[in-house]
Amino acid sequence: MTANSEQIDYWNGEAGERWASYDDMMSRLLAPIADALLERLPAGAARAALDVGCGGGSQSLLLAQRLGEAATVTGIDISAPLLDVARRRAAAVPEQLQFLQADAAVHTFEANSYDLLFSRFGVMFFDDPEAAFANLRRALVPGAPLLFCCWQALKDNPWTWLAVQAALQHVPAPPPPQPGEPGPFAFADPERVDTILAGAGFAAIDIQSQPVTLHWGEGETLADQVRELVQIGPVGRLLADQPPEVRERVRESIAEVMAPYYDGESLALEGRTWFVTARA
Ligand SMILES: C[S@@+](CC[C@H](N)C(=O)[O-])C[C@H]1O[C@@H](n2cnc3c(N)ncnc32)[C@H](O)[C@@H]1O
Repeated sequence: MTANSEQIDYWNGEAGERWASYDDMMSRLLAPIADALLERLPAGAARAALDVGCGGGSQSLLLAQRLGEAATVTGIDISAPLLDVARRRAAAVPEQLQFLQADAAVHTFEANSYDLLFSRFGVMFFDDPEAAFANLRRALVPGAPLLFCCWQALKDNPWTWLAVQAALQHVPAPPPPQPGEPGPFAFADPERVDTILAGAGFAAIDIQSQPVTLHWGEGETLADQVRELVQIGPVGRLLADQPPEVRERVRESIAEVMAPYYDGESLALEGRTWFVTARA
């Protein structure tokens, strides 16, 4: 089997299309996390940054703006539908942003060609993360900074854990993931992340807990916001093959558990991420 083939199928199939159609919502939802992550950019501007698992590119654009006009950002992703969105976004600053459809784990990068490795939730999907990060490190100038965020454990992320619990009243539980299995929570264990990065040749590894609040839109009803929430993440995966009547029942149950977090305008849910920095 080709490396990362399950993820390549997933992000190019129905799920990838769904993520692409919700990317504007995601970009709004996750912009504060990108901003907080960009606050950790080490001093000394990068000239050529690589954004791994760039998806629809909204954070690539924020990174490019933060680095300034003299810098370029290359977004790499396996998902054709998300890269279509990213390329439309890049039209705003075509001289600064470019996108590449390739598997970051195995792509043959020109050695020493980037001076910053960045990712917002795009590095937890590799079959062999240590080999993938070793490949990425070779693309970096020695000493170049790495900066990414990833999710802590599912149970520490009420924004999706509450919804999963509600959904499981209506749909069968999937087999529990193997520890470290590629997916949004694969980097939940900071010791494992440290071991992967050290094994891939990174130094000065620092992993900080970063709580986040996700605001699911404003001025919409709770039902609308739950409709958005069930499109993505673990609940999106749970509902992928379910008929409309089951999805409707799940949405109703989720709306019930989410009601205390809705203030009449915005649904605000807590989560926990790791902010990870290191040097090539
Ligand atoms: C959760 S999304 C995050 C997208 C984007 N960074 C954001 O914050 O909106 C994860 C992204 O990683 C990409 N991805 C997964 N495995 C990859 C790989 N091996 N190489 C490049 N991109 C990958 C997916 O296609 C998807 O766009």
